[in-house]
Amino acid sequence: MMNHNNKFSWRLNARLRITIFLLSIFLLLTYHIFNTVDKNKPEQASNSLDSIDTDTTNIINITDNLDTTNINDSTGITDIIDNNYKGKIGKIKETNNDIIETDKAVDTSNTQSTVPADNVDFLNVINKVSYLPKIQSDPMNFVETPEEKALRESRRESVKQGFLHAWNGYVEYAWGSDEVLPLTNTTSNSFNGWGATMVDALDTMWIMGLTDEFKNATDYIANVDFTSSQNVISVFETTIRYLGGLLSAHELSGDEMLLQKAKELGEAMIPAFNSPTGIPYNTWNLTKGLTENGYRPYASMGILSQAGTLLLEYTKLAQLTGISTFFDKVQHVTDVLDKAKKKIPGFYPLYISQTTGKFMNDEINFGGMGDSFYEYLIKEYIYIGGAIDQYRRMYEESIDSMSKYLVKEGQVINYPDLLFLGSYSSGTFVPKMEHLACFVPGMLAIGSKTLDRPQDLELAIKLAETCYWAYNSTTTGIGPEDFSFFVKGELIDPKKLKLLTPEWNDKLLPYGVYEMNGIYLLRPETIESLFVLYRVTGDKSYQEKGWQIWQAIETWCNTPTAYSGLLNVAGTNIVQNNNMESFFFAETLKYLYLLFSTPDVISLDTYVFNTESHPFLRMLPNYN
Ligand SMILES: *[C@@H]1O[C@H](CO)[C@@H](O)[C@H](O)[C@H]1NC(C)=O
Ligand SMILES: *[C@@H]1O[C@H](CO)[C@@H](O)[C@H](O)[C@H]1NC(C)=O
Ligand SMILES: *[C@@H]1O[C@H](CO)[C@@H](O)[C@H](O)[C@H]1NC(C)=O
Ligand SMILES: *[C@@H]1O[C@H](CO)[C@@H](O)[C@H](O)[C@H]1NC(C)=O
Ligand SMILES: *[C@@H]1O[C@H](CO)[C@@H](O)[C@H](O)[C@H]1NC(C)=O
Ligand SMILES: *[C@@H]1O[C@H](CO)[C@@H](O)[C@H](O)[C@H]1NC(C)=O
Repeated sequence: MMNHNNKFSWRLNARLRITIFLLSIFLLLTYHIFNTVDKNKPEQASNSLDSIDTDTTNIINITDNLDTTNINDSTGITDIIDNNYKGKIGKIKETNNDIIETDKAVDTSNTQSTVPADNVDFLNVINKVSYLPKIQSDPMNFVETPEEKALRESRRESVKQGFLHAWNGYVEYAWGSDEVLPLTNTTSNSFNGWGATMVDALDTMWIMGLTDEFKNATDYIANVDFTSSQNVISVFETTIRYLGGLLSAHELSGDEMLLQKAKELGEAMIPAFNSPTGIPYNTWNLTKGLTENGYRPYASMGILSQAGTLLLEYTKLAQLTGISTFFDKVQHVTDVLDKAKKKIPGFYPLYISQTTGKFMNDEINFGGMGDSFYEYLIKEYIYIGGAIDQYRRMYEESIDSMSKYLVKEGQVINYPDLLFLGSYSSGTFVPKMEHLACFVPGMLAIGSKTLDRPQDLELAIKLAETCYWAYNSTTTGIGPEDFSFFVKGELIDPKKLKLLTPEWNDKLLPYGVYEMNGIYLLRPETIESLFVLYRVTGDKSYQEKGWQIWQAIETWCNTPTAYSGLLNVAGTNIVQNNNMESFFFAETLKYLYLLFSTPDVISLDTYVFNTESHPFLRMLPNYN
């Protein structure tokens, strides 16, 4: 279903239809010719073109020599963790200009009559942007006394000082590297060595008013070559951290260099989408655009969150550069995921074949490997002002199924009302709640306001309570990576309770919870949801909760150099893990800072956050 409130006159419409018709004929002919001419095309690829008719790789010609014969889906999930998968060597056109040039012809391919009903080209998106209902609470609800204001500002300053502490450690010991290791003062470079911390931290520095730090970082970034890398890159991580960070910092500061870098990076990554179905490869050798030395992106299994969490970044890149190919690529991924057969409406399994476009298992998770796919459905809808109804439909189907099948009451002593969010595997409910899934309350809250689903806000408030409770129940006041819970009515098996190690047993998550992974990676999700709920409800208790968590981080994670994750959040001997991911700068500290800022600072009615907490300006009607 599409919105029909577009502003085209009937004349334009008629012309458009004729153009579309002629283009369709042209494209069908082109398609036919290539299909006939290209006899070397691997069988799997052509098969998939039959089933997924929106695939444009055939026309782009980037993948002409891409050899997919060695891709084998039936090996299953082990493919995904096989770094050493040997594929056949292929060659590819190298220059980025070629890629964009040839792709221009592809823009129109979305007007083929065979594409899914919701598929639209980017111009169409821009023309259909409309105002959506407000997300943030009425400004009246944020009124504060002078004392409250002073307290809030002192807390905000504390977070800013924390940021500076961590940043200065990075500057001193790891300038230009991806991350500083906060105990050994050494570096790590798992994100191509382009300075992940620096790029991820840019917009946070801008928001905090750290303009000198911002300037020094952009001076460095101006000389980073985002089109070549020593390592094989993760398409997903590169997109959410680097591309998202560059785009957001560009929008906030107006620095054109950052947009130029984002464009170069985006262009260099486009070939990663040229799998037989258009579902991007998980990893990519940027230097060549295709693998050499038999090094090939982790075989053929696409991961839901990795494939589905590129939407905002590439749509934003299309908006800012005017190159609609960037949008077409990610919209096509949505269409493939939308069309793929599912057992339960709105439940998208975690693995999808890049060769066939079919889901490969039945694992459903709003935590790791699934999470931000669902997040981006509603966020893309918000970002483009509701221009494509497909995103609303997909989101609502997912949330309806999630609420129905994955949310359960527990049986924690003294907390009988807590609701838990589990997952689903092999036809069975899995009663494990992940820290990663604690972004869900925030997602539900913005979706609730945008789509007028009041029941979702109630659920959001309850799930956020559970995420906070998990923090408040440990000795450190910091929540674990995950834990399992007993569902209401289930007989408590004492053997299962023993799975909590003796060290945790007396101090930790109360009776009713068993088996826990007590690691803490400085993750943001719980704070993120507290921040969103504060903005949505105006309820100041969320600030109190966030403040408690920040104090716990100060107490347990602080090192002389920066902040460190923890090996265990409970027990008597708390151990730091010598790790500080760049998302601590991008997300954890930013959400904390915003929690103690006035609601006009990065308003949710003006911005939408990518999954790495980089704020993007939402499109407005009549954008041009
Ligand atoms: C596609 O690539 C082949 C060789 O790689 C070339 O001969 C052909 O002209 C290309 N087609 C287009 C449309 O660029
Ligand atoms: C795919 O892998 C499976 C399991 O390793 C094997 O049995 C099968 O023959 C392979 N198929 C192809 C086409 O290589
Ligand atoms: C910026 O870089 C200059 C030159 O290296 C240095 O002297 C200055 O202290 C830096 N400023 C900040 C705020 O880091
Ligand atoms: C990536 O490609 C370049 C150029 O072909 C090659 O030198 C490099 O070894 C490749 N890197 C990896 C990790 O495969
Ligand atoms: C749990 O919350 C209570 C009430 O706000 C607070 O007093 C206590 O310090 C918290 N405990 C931890 C470990 O965070
Ligand atoms: C790392 O640097 C801090 C100061 O930033 C210092 O206190 C600490 O001893 C250093 N650690 C090592 C292992 O050098």
